[in-house]
Parts: sequence; structure tokens; C-alpha cells
Amino acid sequence: MSTLSVSVWRGRESGQYQSFEVPRLESQTVLDVVSYIQRALDPTLAYRFACRVGMCGSCAMTVNGRARWTCRTHVDKVARDDRLEIAPLANLPVVRDLVTDMTPFFDKWARARGQFQGGSTRKDGFARVPPGSQARRLADAGIECIGCGVCYSSCDVVAWNPSYLGPAALNRAWTLVNDVRETGNRARLAAVAGDAGCHACHTHMSCSERCPKQISPTAAIAGLKRATMEAALKGEI
Ligand code: SF4
Ligand code: SF4
Ligand code: FES
Repeated sequence: MSTLSVSVWRGRESGQYQSFEVPRLESQTVLDVVSYIQRALDPTLAYRFACRVGMCGSCAMTVNGRARWTCRTHVDKVARDDRLEIAPLANLPVVRDLVTDMTPFFDKWARARGQFQGGSTRKDGFARVPPGSQARRLADAGIECIGCGVCYSSCDVVAWNPSYLGPAALNRAWTLVNDVRETGNRARLAAVAGDAGCHACHTHMSCSERCPKQISPTAAIAGLKRATMEAALKGEI
């Protein structure tokens, strides 16, 4: 049976890589490899996952230098010469081994006003937004974000400027700006217009290239740049 040589980050911000030999199997995912190490070789290895099917967003790690969701990343696609290097996501504090603290990431969703704020009561009927309408298409473009942090971890501006809201929070803000049921968009546009908001993006595209859900935060940020400029010219923010 062939084997994989796997280097896994151990420790916190400071630490070192530890090497493991893992049996190579057909259709094996990177998450399968990490789970094998934890179950068969070293039960003290810390990592995180939940759904295993690309829905929960909890399994993202850095694999051979690039942020990826591990439950849907096949070893065949990423192993180089039967080698894998697995580390925690970049741009986030490390709790231990492969587990990052997502608090700064989700705090930025809150700062970008990523919570839906509707104006209807339970007595009102359902809002009808035709599937083919422009409003629906714009809102749908970013709605499937699973909060995995791959884009955030891949963004150079986040690395240079830790207060930058980042691609996922801004994508969420743009999704809500396009939601015809929303009532909080003036405050939302004001929240994303500052120095750490959409205008700090350098349009490097790493977020859009690496998002496992094929979302384009870059396009969302471009939309926010236009919308905040228009709001500023009208004196609304
Ligand atoms: S396009 Fe903007 S948000 Fe996306 S990775 Fe580049 S700088 Fe970051
Ligand atoms: S935009 Fe994509 S990469 Fe970023 S958190 Fe959402 S699903 Fe993950
Ligand atoms: S374990 Fe849920 S997205 Fe990978």
C-alpha cells in the first residue's frame, strides 16, 4: 500500500510541524487524512469539522500553502510527490494545532452589519421576490456563503491591516444591501465605507479565486464601492 508523508502544524502561534505516515486510499480527502492521524496515530491532535459535506464551513485549513475546505478537497488534487503540509488558516489566531479562533472573523460580520433587519411583522404576508428579477439575482450571488474563512485567510489586505473587514463580511453586507426586505442599509453602507471597509480592497481577487462556493467577494466589494460613493454624493452617509 502506498503512503502519504504528512506534515501537520502542532502548537499555537509558535510551534512546529510534526511528520506522520498515512495510508493512501482511493477518493481520500484531506479531512480523511487528518481524521486518520487523530484516530490512529495521535489522539491529542486538535482539528475541527462537522458536516463533512461542504455545508458547515468549519473544516478549512491551509493545505500545501493554500486555504481550502478539507472535507471536499481530494488528496489526489493537492498532494505533491505524496506529500501534504497541513496548517491552520492564516490571518486568524491559532487556538491549538489546526484550530483557529474565528472570533475576529465573525466580529467583522457584526461590524459590517451582517444581520438581517426586516421591517415586516408576523401579520404581514411573505415578501415575493421573483426569481428572475435583478434584485433576486444580486442577492442570490453571495447568499450561499458558508462562513468557512477561506477568502479571509487568503486576503493580503487582511494580513497587512488586521482591522480590514475582509471579503466575507463585505460579501454579506452586499447581499443584504440587495435584499429588498432590508431596512438597515443606510447604516450598513456607513459601516462599510470607512478606512477598514470596502475601499481598502486592492482587488487582488484571491478571495474569489479560492472561495469553494464559487462566490465572488471581489464583485460584491465593487458593488459596495459604487453604492457607498452614490450614498455619499447624495449626503445619505
Ligand atoms: S479582492 Fe479585496 S477582499 Fe478579495 S482578496 Fe483581494 S484585497 Fe482581499
Ligand atoms: S465567501 Fe466563500 S470563501 Fe469566503 S467565507 Fe464565504 S464560502 Fe468561505
Ligand atoms: S466539514 Fe462542514 S464544510 Fe467541511
